Amino acid sequence: MPRGKSSFICRECGYASPGWLGRCPGCGSWNTIVEEVVPPKVPRGLGSRSAGPPVAAPAPLHLSAVDLGAQARIDTGLGEFNRVLGGGLVAGSVVLVGGEPGVGKSTLLLQALLSMEARGVSTLLISGEESPAQVKLRSTRLGGTQPGMGDLRLLTETQTESVVAALEHLRPEVCVVDSVQTLWSSEVGSTPGSIAQIRDSTAQLLRVAKAGGMAMVLVGHVTKEGELAGPRVLEHMVDAVLSFEGERTQPFRILRAVKNRFGSTNEVGVFQMAEQGLVEVPDPSSIFLEDGDLRSGSAVVPVLEGTRCLLAEVQALVTPSNLAMPQRVARGVDRNRLAMIVAVLNRRARLPLLKCDIFVNVAGGLVLEDPAADLAVALAVASAWRDGGGAEGVAAFGEVSLTGKIRYVLQGEKRVQELTRRGFPRILIPGRNAEELLGAGGMAPGVELVAVTDIGQAVNQVVKNTAARSTRG
Ligand code: TYD
Ligand code: MG
Repeated sequence: MPRGKSSFICRECGYASPGWLGRCPGCGSWNTIVEEVVPPKVPRGLGSRSAGPPVAAPAPLHLSAVDLGAQARIDTGLGEFNRVLGGGLVAGSVVLVGGEPGVGKSTLLLQALLSMEARGVSTLLISGEESPAQVKLRSTRLGGTQPGMGDLRLLTETQTESVVAALEHLRPEVCVVDSVQTLWSSEVGSTPGSIAQIRDSTAQLLRVAKAGGMAMVLVGHVTKEGELAGPRVLEHMVDAVLSFEGERTQPFRILRAVKNRFGSTNEVGVFQMAEQGLVEVPDPSSIFLEDGDLRSGSAVVPVLEGTRCLLAEVQALVTPSNLAMPQRVARGVDRNRLAMIVAVLNRRARLPLLKCDIFVNVAGGLVLEDPAADLAVALAVASAWRDGGGAEGVAAFGEVSLTGKIRYVLQGEKRVQELTRRGFPRILIPGRNAEELLGAGGMAPGVELVAVTDIGQAVNQVVKNTAARSTRG
């Protein structure tokens, strides 16, 4: 094959430049530009204006004539997986599942395949990462080789053209490719795992899936920064992108839809990694809470994940610092957000935090993106600062603004209900949320709603101390 000319492409965003650069102008990442050999273009008749036979105009379709029957969902056998997909796999669609190595992608998909096969759905697993023996061992652990379970078909092939040929011949209803980074096409001159290879292989698989009406799941690895490595460029090509998250040392895993052409993107599924594989957690609201009473230095916040409400525990530690630049360490909370909240506590609630090291952690490896968590972060820090001196843990939600105001957040009722259901007797909520809730007929008896409108007032509710009280007025 003639060697094509070189192009330099960013591994993260696909930005192309004629020469090597240290920093990608497209996405700003460092050291992500790699050389790719672009194969010489094969002239194709279609599409070019100057050459080739005249193109027949395709006829459009009336919406009323579109048959939704063709979009029947295939039940994966895992309710939480179905939920994130928007009700199951769609025939003729391609789903990309991304996640760090070891998070459980292969386990999740093998469980789904075994369950579908057992229910008579024809499936195929294309594994470029594991040998047949490894897959069998895992499936035995998952109970998949017991009588009554379906006999899964497996192919350990990484050459894209062979995979395509197999798919066209076997025509499974559901096919899993683990992983897309192992595929290589002989028509592309670069090494497996390179952008050009991944993009070309995916394009080929996409065509087979659409033409054959099969549901295809591609597994993709992510880099340590949490970006889909290489497959970032695939996000545009596939129908849905799911991200499988969780810390390896923690049992809980969250499956999140990042993009979904067939459902909502803010739905999450929750699993627990156990001896026999992934177990669904249909009622996950309190799994991230630690046992026992809330201590000083911690606050519980109900965060919304799609249509669900999870209770998260924010823990803080505040210690005097010997450093010129005191540390701000955040796990599960955005570091800039923490810096802002600390500044607001300092200026608006007069907490002398500037010379303190501050550590914030969210229990269970949960990552908080809901702005309603601001107040809980602030109160955890305030209560950690006052540790032992009349500070107490608290349940709270609300967004903190730079002016120190506690802002209204969406779905206050749902959040209060979740906390009440879990037995929290006293909840700090934004003043406007309180007005809304009390105006709507009040809440369940036995729960005390404390309306707070500014950060100083909120801190006073938790820290029984004059230093914080002096800020008012
Ligand atoms: P795996 O599915 O191989 O991860 P990925 O494909 O995302 O790289 O998951 C591997 C981890 O899951 C491994 O650390 C072992 C653990 N595991 C269990 O705890 N229980 C099980 O039943 C299985 C199959 C795996
Ligand atoms: Mg794997």
